[in-house]
Amino acid sequence: ADLRPYNTFGLPARAARLATIEDAAQVAALIAGPEWTLPRLILGGGSNLVLTRDFPGLVLKVGIAGRRLAGEDADAWYVEAGAGENWHDFVRWTLAQGWPGLENLSLIPGTVGAAPVQNIGAYGLEMAERFHSLQAVSLETGAPLRLAGADCRFAYRDSVFKRELAGRVLITAVTFRLPKGWQPVTGYADVARELAARGIATPSALDVSDAVIAIRRRKLPDPARIGNAGSFFKNPVVDADLLARLDAAHPDLPRYPQPDSRFKLAAGWLIDRCGWKGRDLGPVGAYEQQALVLVNRGGATGADVERIARAIQADVFARFGVNLEPEPVFV
Ligand code: EPU
Repeated sequence: ADLRPYNTFGLPARAARLATIEDAAQVAALIAGPEWTLPRLILGGGSNLVLTRDFPGLVLKVGIAGRRLAGEDADAWYVEAGAGENWHDFVRWTLAQGWPGLENLSLIPGTVGAAPVQNIGAYGLEMAERFHSLQAVSLETGAPLRLAGADCRFAYRDSVFKRELAGRVLITAVTFRLPKGWQPVTGYADVARELAARGIATPSALDVSDAVIAIRRRKLPDPARIGNAGSFFKNPVVDADLLARLDAAHPDLPRYPQPDSRFKLAAGWLIDRCGWKGRDLGPVGAYEQQALVLVNRGGATGADVERIARAIQADVFARFGVNLEPEPVFV
């Protein structure tokens, strides 16, 4: 199977086999079948993926549909969606139903089932803050399992699904807890500025969603038009010593204090300062509006992506002494 349509970077690669999963029972049937000895790759929207070669195994494309109000109490709505649902469509649907809470995560590419894997986050909100629980199926036994928030060990762009449970479970549905005591999250400078520009002082959830969509359209390339996988590196976290040294030379360096007294830096700023914004190496470049996003200028392969990624890492390290860690999953 050709995997190019299944990765938003538009990288060429083939898989020996591709199976679309529409329900958990199908996984149990595959486990009992002859192809289960092959290497496996679980695929959601393919928006956080760098394919560096052909995949000599079985790709499980998650297409589990469905969304519903799973419960309600005095404090919250509990909304469940199938892992294969498009994330942004799901967010807009919750808002249309009158259940606010996910609006800051509007327009993030990918699927509902992929959202917990890297704990998607944007504009002052992480998915973990609205997560209730999820359903999965064991790829070892086919048994269903349920994980609560603490089981998932969510951290910045990280979870148990990237670590101990990687390749061992397939997420089938996710339930979100959307508090009825909703307050808009407008602390992120871009969001505050966009709402002010729109003359909105007390925004609704839909106003925040619309503002986030406008910001993302300005700064981030639409994967339907320009191949990319969103932020290519995580924002690095450094200790106070390194920050002090960097600050002496670069007082305008953006920094975000962390609960553990370290500081998160903006990888996009570091890359931009190394002169990479809008610059290409072969058929891959750093996007003009946001240097943290690498884009496929046409015809790029995984090797081209790795080449520019290494060049950027080397430049940022040479100039700032900071190691950048890729955000997408490499296959
Ligand atoms: N900056 C530059 N030059 C650039 C890019 C950024 O100077 O080319 C500066 C900005 O001016 C700003 C700072 O760096 O001061 C941070 O930039 P921005 O607000 O655009 O956010 P980011 O830290 O680069 C993160 C997430 C994005 C998310 C935005 C908004 C990561 C790795 N990325 O980017 O997530 O949308 O914040 O919350 O945490 C993704 O993960 O794929 C993604 C797009």
